[in-house]
Amino acid sequence: MNPKILILGPPGAGKGTQSDRLATAFEVEHVTTGDALRANKGMDISEMDTEYDTPGEYMDDGELVPDAVVDAMVEEALSGADGFVLDGYPRNEDQAEALQGMTDLDVVLVLDAPEEELVDRLTGRRVCDDCGANFHVEFSPPKAAGVCDQCGGDLIQREDDTEETVRERLSVYAEDTEPVLALYADHDGYVEIDGDQSPDDVWDEVRQAVRDHT
Ligand code: AP5
Repeated sequence: MNPKILILGPPGAGKGTQSDRLATAFEVEHVTTGDALRANKGMDISEMDTEYDTPGEYMDDGELVPDAVVDAMVEEALSGADGFVLDGYPRNEDQAEALQGMTDLDVVLVLDAPEEELVDRLTGRRVCDDCGANFHVEFSPPKAAGVCDQCGGDLIQREDDTEETVRERLSVYAEDTEPVLALYADHDGYVEIDGDQSPDDVWDEVRQAVRDHT
């Protein structure tokens, strides 16, 4: 049985970066609500009686997409996965309760870094419009500016990576998501990792934590 891993932490802590490595190293599926929602930004959710009619309107404001939309996406993704790394969910206490009814977990990893570092990482992030590869204008620049090293696609800035929206995402994290950490603090596989190190140094600790708990 492949490991069931949950990775938590604020926007920019490196969840996506480390989840990609986990998915490859431990042969598990990377289940990410952010990517799933970005692929469905224009989905019509007006029948759910929500404030906005599409997920994209919440995302571009830095707000959480309604639980009913996200819970259903995660439940479907986990039901077909033989091991997973879950990234971006749960983001509030109700989602944590919903997750409890869907699966058990082997490891709960928590990454963190200082707020100004998170802002620098996110406002400097560039993403390939074709293959989704991640770069950073200063910390991991592409060989040619604006061009993806992996597929030659165009590098773009995510619409929610402007400084104003990043600060709103961080405040939503502090209010809604940080309290969720306490719900996992007694889990046998709970490990806090300093995300304010190089990606390789963070990875050494992430990989070891998963090995220690599976
Ligand atoms: P989502 O896409 O999940 O964004 P996020 O949680 O804000 O996380 P990020 O992807 O921005 O950061 P990350 O921690 O993965 O960092 P990364 O590795 O990319 O969510 C977006 C939106 O979708 C939400 O605002 C919300 O609207 C909606 N949503 C998603 N899930 C939801 C849910 N469950 N409920 C309701 N709504 C939901 O790294 C960032 C940058 O830093 C990169 O450039 C990278 O190269 C660089 N970097 C990474 N690690 C390091 C390091 N160690 N040192 C230096 N640079 C580094």
